[in-house]
Amino acid sequence: MDLLYSPYDFGVQDDPYPVYARLREEAPVYRNDADDIWVLSRHADIADALRDTARFSSRNGLRIEPAFWGPQAERFFSFVAMDPPKHTRMRSLVSRAFTQRRVQALEPRLRELALGHLAPALDGESFDLMGDFAARFPTDVISELVGVPEGDRALVRDLGMAIMYRDEAATGPVTDLPPEALQAIGALVGYYTELTIARSKSRTDDLLSGLLDAAEGEDRLTPEEIVGVLILLVGAGIETTMLLLGNAWHAAWKHPDQRAAALGGRIDDWVNETLRYDPPSQTVARTATEDVELHGVTIPAGGRVLLAVGSGNRDERVFPAADRFDLDRDTSASLAFGGGRHHCLGANLGRLEARVAFQELTAVVADYEIDEAAAKRVHSTNDRGFESLPTRITAR
Ligand code: HEM
Repeated sequence: MDLLYSPYDFGVQDDPYPVYARLREEAPVYRNDADDIWVLSRHADIADALRDTARFSSRNGLRIEPAFWGPQAERFFSFVAMDPPKHTRMRSLVSRAFTQRRVQALEPRLRELALGHLAPALDGESFDLMGDFAARFPTDVISELVGVPEGDRALVRDLGMAIMYRDEAATGPVTDLPPEALQAIGALVGYYTELTIARSKSRTDDLLSGLLDAAEGEDRLTPEEIVGVLILLVGAGIETTMLLLGNAWHAAWKHPDQRAAALGGRIDDWVNETLRYDPPSQTVARTATEDVELHGVTIPAGGRVLLAVGSGNRDERVFPAADRFDLDRDTSASLAFGGGRHHCLGANLGRLEARVAFQELTAVVADYEIDEAAAKRVHSTNDRGFESLPTRITAR
């Protein structure tokens, strides 16, 4: 079989969809010996695995690089890297603070933050959607949510960007993390520890105060657990949202008829179809806890399993004409936010950020053109999107 899929392959990262289509048909449980992984690519298999936390454990976190696996996974991913009952306890306490009400209350502030970046960016005829806007807005949103004082936000933004681990130099399984990323994690732990101590003495109405107050009976989050959650929010909430904005911008540019509808105000359909068609999180990893037999292949206990969410979202069994970007389609079965117990806790916030961003962009932009030759992609085994999207705009 000449079918080759590796999440480390830059060619695959630049356009994974043709190889996903072959995986779904020819090898729905694909084994890559060199990377030592099994890959599930059909929608139903991925959805089942996401729900089956007993056989598909999250104990090593959601990335496939061996560098993140093992006991340190919780340091990077907090409760993403936990199984029940530990996960159940942490998620339940965090959910008491990270409520829909708290997210909704942020909307006016989100709009101010978006406009603060967009006004100078849209001043001329061209701008970079990523560098001038998408790389800045979601980091400020997380700081606003958490309650990071204005004066510290630039520091948190720089450290947040430094821990966004990417695979620009990787050609195979990555076993060591770059020292800069580890240093940035250390610095963020230090910063958030001090902020947590300060807030434990004097509460406000921010998320950090909510996390300190969250209780179930006598049970509360420890300061170390809270710092872990804050690091997770930076890791889970910034890059994903930033890439979502760029993928939506790019998909609409490639599809002029859909772009007209998007710019005409169908913002939610635009965002939801982007999450289905070109999701920012392409893969999530799991560990088999026992031998699992599927489609005649046995994944051994301890095997590392990559769930190719981006492939599941193109599965014709669930989404007819799946390769078409179509704002009219039903996207409710999209796997973009995962599923089961680990379903994205920030999905509502991510959607709200995208809605506010595109409402404000489309208020000013009548149409646009991307300079594709100058656009630059991010290289990563799980995140898909752009580093830079130079754009020429026609103002309204
Ligand atoms: C989990 C995607 C935005 C916080 C997840 C998972 C996915 C995902 C696929 C599941 C991971 C797994 O099963 O192992 C996305 C996408 C976003 C987004 C595509 C784009 C908008 C956000 C935001 C936040 C956030 C804005 C918070 C500020 C989380 C958390 C989890 C999570 C805390 C862990 C849930 C758990 O393990 O119980 N996200 N996310 N995400 N996400 Fe998001």
